[in-house]
Amino acid sequence: MFTFIDHYKNEVLLSFQDHPFSNRPKHVWVICRYMDQWLLTSHSRRGLEFPGGKVEKGEDPTDAAIREVMEETGGKVDSLQYIGQYKVTGKEKVIIKNIYFAEVGSLQKQSTYYETNGPVLLPFLPTDVAQDVRFSFIMKDDVLLHSLDYIKKYVMSVTW
Ligand code: GTP
Repeated sequence: MFTFIDHYKNEVLLSFQDHPFSNRPKHVWVICRYMDQWLLTSHSRRGLEFPGGKVEKGEDPTDAAIREVMEETGGKVDSLQYIGQYKVTGKEKVIIKNIYFAEVGSLQKQSTYYETNGPVLLPFLPTDVAQDVRFSFIMKDDVLLHSLDYIKKYVMSVTW
């Protein structure tokens, strides 16, 4: 279990165990690879981030992950792997989010990308994402760093 403080000074608990905080998380976040690049979305307010969002009523979190990737990037998920879960204790509410790793097989142009401006492909993530104004706050705490470490170590099909 990792504990740290995020960009907004909220406490974050992160674990790579099987659903340590909730079996019914209401949020998902999907670290995506497409053709040996990182696939992100450009959120109209927050900036560059991996796609994700809220699980709809009655929806399975894995279905929500696949849906959010399509809605925000046009990416068709070929494989999806649960990585871990984090819990943010905010000023007003507590957020529990599943983290997934997705391999995207194709990008399909969408008529809308919802609250985002659609897909952004990056060959590399900068080493100083936390200081980089182009990136969303959700990319700026240790969830990203630990998740990338985990993927590098345990997801065999991936190299970068
Ligand atoms: P909507 O406007 O309905 O999307 O809700 P919201 O803006 O209140 O956002 P949401 O319910 O998704 O999150 C509420 C708060 O939780 C945010 O303002 C953040 O402080 C925090 N939060 C949400 N997602 C993350 C995340 O991925 N990482 C971190 N560190 N905090 C998050």
